[in-house]
Amino acid sequence: MQLSAVVFILLLLSSAATLSNAHNITRLLAKHPAFSTFNHYLTITHLAAEINRRTTITVCAVDNAAMSELLSKHPSIHTIKNILSLHVLLDYFGAKKLHQITNGTALAATMFQATGSAPGSAGFVNITDMKGGKVALGPEDNGGSLDVYFVKSLEEVPYNISVIQISKLIVLDYTNGDYGLEDNLDGGLTVFCPLDDPFKAFLPRFKNLTAAGKTSFLEFFGVPVYQSLSTLKSNNGLMNTLATDGANKFDFTVQNDGEDVTLKTKSTTAKITGTLIDEQPVAVYTINKVLLPKELFKAEAPTPAPAHAQRKPQMHQNPVRVRTCLQHHQTHQQMHQLTTQLIKQLMKMLV
Ligand SMILES: *[C@@H]1O[C@H](CO)[C@@H](O)[C@H](O)[C@H]1NC(C)=O
Ligand SMILES: *[C@@H]1O[C@H](CO)[C@@H](O)[C@H](O)[C@H]1NC(C)=O
Ligand SMILES: *[C@@H]1O[C@H](CO)[C@@H](O)[C@H](O)[C@H]1NC(C)=O
Ligand SMILES: *[C@@H]1O[C@H](CO)[C@@H](O)[C@H](O)[C@H]1NC(C)=O
Ligand SMILES: *[C@@H]1O[C@H](CO)[C@@H](O)[C@H](O)[C@H]1NC(C)=O
Repeated sequence: MQLSAVVFILLLLSSAATLSNAHNITRLLAKHPAFSTFNHYLTITHLAAEINRRTTITVCAVDNAAMSELLSKHPSIHTIKNILSLHVLLDYFGAKKLHQITNGTALAATMFQATGSAPGSAGFVNITDMKGGKVALGPEDNGGSLDVYFVKSLEEVPYNISVIQISKLIVLDYTNGDYGLEDNLDGGLTVFCPLDDPFKAFLPRFKNLTAAGKTSFLEFFGVPVYQSLSTLKSNNGLMNTLATDGANKFDFTVQNDGEDVTLKTKSTTAKITGTLIDEQPVAVYTINKVLLPKELFKAEAPTPAPAHAQRKPQMHQNPVRVRTCLQHHQTHQQMHQLTTQLIKQLMKMLV
């Protein structure tokens, strides 16, 4: 374990021992519906619990529109956690203090840094009083341009916690346009393909969906990151999909069940039954059931898997060509379109 991780854990233990849960960020933000997405992700990344354990902190929140912009890039939960942890400053900045920063500029340590995820010295946020009383924020290494602004104070519990709105997310934009965080480097694609029998049985209901519903439904089976079977086994938890977009979560939970890996939504649990392709950066697995996203199938009763669902899928046509194609189109947008095509193609073969 890294030293920073040890220090962090000690900090957590000591603060947990001495402090009561005096504030609850989830509850504080719940008073502001325009920040519900930000609030939701604080919870699912478990940052909310860390925030509640600490005092003398500032949470820089962004509204749902700003969160949608981030989510449209289909970041993993791990990336979202890194980004949001940069928005928790380990000092108390109420509106008044922000406008009275000594010498007009300061660097604030953040939770991103405290968790040891930050490469080098990254993870400080620069706060600068601009002319005209505007307060700007940005990464420490901002090359002279700070383009995120303090908008307003949302909640102040001096000097335990301050929650402020900022105009957009503070992004650590290193070299390649992504967030410069480790998990974004792998990229790739994972597709979970239902076997033919369950999908055939499901087809009338698929045809019943609206055009937008059909697209979201297909994209729901793709995850914008390469996941080997062993990664899936060791990385249980919530998984965003290509259909994840702002309030439309379209996510599922990956969970081990003995030696099996299952994918779960509210109404369905599907099991991975085979591997069609596993070559970085693409993996395609078969699943024994049509996983139903709760966004499209609200009050579904769980349905048992057909007994013959284990049959080997008849899938041999074009995976290699599709794979080569994918390797040459690594941007998310293109990946997104190609996946939709790939999934449609796979589905066609199965019908
Ligand atoms: C601030 O936190 C301390 C320690 O948890 C707590 O005792 C105190 O009541 C809190 N103050 C407010 C105003 O909530
Ligand atoms: C914080 O508030 C939320 C919503 O009211 C609640 O679900 C959660 O259990 C609370 N957390 C703590 C630590 O009290
Ligand atoms: C403010 O500027 C003065 C003079 O440059 C310097 O001595 C002092 O340390 C600065 N204070 C802070 C808090 O940066
Ligand atoms: C914050 O960024 C501004 C603009 O790049 C810079 O002038 C200032 O020195 C930085 N402040 C600190 C404390 O590094
Ligand atoms: C298709 O939708 C209609 C209208 O909502 C509904 O009555 C019908 O049962 C649906 N068919 C299937 C197969 O789900």
